Amino acid sequence: MATFHKIKVKDIYKETNDCSVVTFDIPGPLLEEFQFRQGQHLTLKADIDGEDVRRSYSLCSSPIESEWKVAVKLLPEGKFSTYINNSLHTGDTLEIMPPSGTFGVSIDRVNTKNYLFFAAGSGVTPVMSMIKTHLALEPNSTCKLFYVNRTAKSIIFKEELEQLRNTYFGRFEIYYFLTKEKRDIDLFNGRFDDEKMKVLTETFIDIPDTNEVFLCGPEDMVNYVSEYLVNAGLPKELIHFELFVSGLSEEDKLRAERLAQQNVEGVEITIVDGGKEFHFTMTSDYDNILDAALGAGADLPFACKGGVCSTCKCQILDGTVEMKKNYALEPREVAQNFVLSCQSVPTSEKVKLNYDV
Ligand SMILES: Cc1cc2nc3c(=O)[nH]c(=O)nc-3n(C[C@H](O)[C@H](O)[C@H](O)COP(=O)(O)OP(=O)(O)OC[C@H]3O[C@@H](n4cnc5c(N)ncnc54)[C@H](O)[C@@H]3O)c2cc1C
Ligand code: FES
Repeated sequence: MATFHKIKVKDIYKETNDCSVVTFDIPGPLLEEFQFRQGQHLTLKADIDGEDVRRSYSLCSSPIESEWKVAVKLLPEGKFSTYINNSLHTGDTLEIMPPSGTFGVSIDRVNTKNYLFFAAGSGVTPVMSMIKTHLALEPNSTCKLFYVNRTAKSIIFKEELEQLRNTYFGRFEIYYFLTKEKRDIDLFNGRFDDEKMKVLTETFIDIPDTNEVFLCGPEDMVNYVSEYLVNAGLPKELIHFELFVSGLSEEDKLRAERLAQQNVEGVEITIVDGGKEFHFTMTSDYDNILDAALGAGADLPFACKGGVCSTCKCQILDGTVEMKKNYALEPREVAQNFVLSCQSVPTSEKVKLNYDV
């Protein structure tokens, strides 16, 4: 069972005007539990003005650095990001859950893969961890990063990326795109669009020779670039993405409306967590299993409650559920009966879910 641990802030510094990088001091006894794979994230919890606030932050360090670092971009009126950027200091304590998430692929020294990364703003964080890891541990693989920011000054990890380019000269290329600053070469001004993607796929990207693509940024960018690459001939299964926040697509809205009609009153739920079973009967006061379980007194992991972070992931052992939306689980996980409990509506009279997975 993943639980929160009190962890000290080892260091915090401003990477740009509105982004703080926080390094955590993981104590010896927790080192094993906090081992991670490139692309995973931490769930952070703090009491902010009397409210229990939880958010996910991708690890931007590589597992080979033995460091646990996140970069938090300040969002206007954002509760957690304002707290981290304006109030957190070295030596303070935060509650943190061990790393989780399935963004990223396995590393193999003998790989000769060509990786592409598309990132925007703070979306560079999981990508940074992957690039460092793939370059260091797969000596025959290459990485190309296409990275969108507002201005040159707002580019997170500019210096570290430049150092990586020097260290791995010939194996790592970076292309910066700025949306609020004009530069001489028009290709590098503005967001990804058909004109840019045409040049990129004809000049910088060799589609048949691309092995994996990772995208992290706003939902419209992620959807647009994925679709363009698939239309340009890249197999869909080579594209991996992570969203930090998601809206509701038309399809999601229709599904949510349909599931709102589902009668959940009286459904018997069994939760397996920490090797123990917890039983309760669902009422129509709740529209998802996670909230109903929390309301019944269960202590279950969650963060975004929006179908993007996968902290509430569990596996169906018995019965059936339908998810309102899912932007966190890969198709292979869904095929193995994994669900996001914050999005799950029971569609059978009994449901048994296992959180010990
Ligand atoms: C798997 C995962 C990894 C993440 N990794 C990082 C990371 O490495 N660095 C990082 O800075 N953030 C990351 N996030 C986003 C982070 O969890 C928070 O959502 C973000 O910091 C905003 O929280 P807040 O409490 O400050 O804002 P809130 O108080 O929750 O929201 C303030 C307003 O901003 C909107 N909003 C919330 N999140 C975003 C967003 N990302 N972009 C645009 N608008 C938004 C909300 O709709 C709301 O209107 C990640 C999210 C997930 C799910
Ligand atoms: S709590 Fe984030 S996906 Fe359910």
